[in-house]
Amino acid sequence: MSSSEVVINVDSVSKIYHVYQKPVDRLKQFVVPGIMRLLRRNPASYFKEFCALKEISFTVKKGEIVGVIGRNGAGKSTLLQILARTVTPTSGQVEVVGRVAALLELGAGFNVEFTGRENVVMNGVILGLSSEEVLGKFDEIAEFADIGDFIDQPVKTYSSGMYVRLAFAVSVCLKPDILIVDEALAVGDARFQAKCFRRFDELVEQGTTILLVTHSTEQIVRHCDRAILVEQGAIFAEGVPKDIANLYMDLLFGAEGGQNPPQEIAVECERSLGATPPSRFELRAGYNPTEYRWGDSKVEIVDFVLSDQNEIDKNVFRSGTKLSLHVWVLYKANVAYPVYGLTIKTPDGVIVYGCNSRDFIDGPIVKPMQSGRYAKVVFDIDLSLGGGEYLVSLGVAEDISGEVFPLDRRYDSILMKVLTDDRSVGIANLNMKVSVE
Ligand SMILES: Nc1ncnc2c1ncn2[C@@H]1O[C@H](COP(=O)(O)OP(=O)(O)OP(=O)(O)O)[C@@H](O)[C@H]1O
Ligand SMILES: [Mg+2]
Repeated sequence: MSSSEVVINVDSVSKIYHVYQKPVDRLKQFVVPGIMRLLRRNPASYFKEFCALKEISFTVKKGEIVGVIGRNGAGKSTLLQILARTVTPTSGQVEVVGRVAALLELGAGFNVEFTGRENVVMNGVILGLSSEEVLGKFDEIAEFADIGDFIDQPVKTYSSGMYVRLAFAVSVCLKPDILIVDEALAVGDARFQAKCFRRFDELVEQGTTILLVTHSTEQIVRHCDRAILVEQGAIFAEGVPKDIANLYMDLLFGAEGGQNPPQEIAVECERSLGATPPSRFELRAGYNPTEYRWGDSKVEIVDFVLSDQNEIDKNVFRSGTKLSLHVWVLYKANVAYPVYGLTIKTPDGVIVYGCNSRDFIDGPIVKPMQSGRYAKVVFDIDLSLGGGEYLVSLGVAEDISGEVFPLDRRYDSILMKVLTDDRSVGIANLNMKVSVE
């Protein structure tokens, strides 16, 4: 490996699965080609090839927490199984340096007939520790798993949460060099998840490298140093967690975006609009120049204004204020069912609130828009936020038979500051009153 710091090196890895239409085809494939060869005929094949991973390459450095995100069937688990060496790649090279503990989708390799205690010891030995070393850690493991007397029951009597708790406890207490986690955390309850993430941080401080598959963009932005977005067996994007989380949301909520409108439509719009009015979005109070913008140019969010009862075009507000956000959208094509959305996040990407004109309580609002016209959208918000800074994301999308296709997304495009008079902490202002009797 080129850098001494690189502990995972994946080089042009592909995985092709053989997919059989009917179970009997698998049997035919096993028997028939042999017979055909005996008869000196060309062997027939009864499967189709399916490429689950296509020439994937990336590296991970020691001590990084890397998040892997992507839609169902994208290839995330296949990739992790290859790293954990439970699946062999069809081509390409994988180098992994150090002891690997893997919590994969289909369990941690416990033998369900044995008790939790017995499985802990077996797992530790598989990880490369001596049984004395594992026994020395046993109390810590049992305490972390916190499943009480079940530790001496056969694993087949466990709930899925208990199973994951124990599997996790083994993996994190035995201090692997590399920890691979495939969505296992989703099964644990919130308290256990929080405990695991705290432990991740401790492990990383001691030099462990973590690769985490999750569908939670929040986990990606909160806990990962870097993220990889997998789509249809290939790396779609790789980078800062916040950006990758945004891209993933785009993929989820509208894979058709990003295409340019046909040339004739664009020309026609130019004509009917005359000169395109200047966009003032970038000049408004609170505009964030490092916003993340994505969409086609068919529809554009061209302007916004934040205001309270006293003042227009400002971005610093007192907590509890009635806030209004006016947004202007320019249409350069006809859209039958536009949907206007808003999301408020903390600077580290935690979603505080999000809704849209279709899904809010008095919705849906269906107002078809014609090319060359502006829509003015007004969001009225009770600003029940704690003190701090928040990022506002705006989006216009088109609803086609219930599916949403993004037209213009301006993520993290407005920075807003909220001031409080009290000394409360947290992202919500719950307006607490205290009485003591
Ligand atoms: N043993 C197998 N035989 C044939 N196809 C497989 C096999 N394992 C996985 N696949 C296919 O490979 C693709 C990738 O699967 P994989 O489990 O890696 O996806 P994933 O990203 O982990 O999805 P999810 O988010 O649902 O867990 C899927 O289309 C799946 O059907
Ligand atoms: Mg998976």
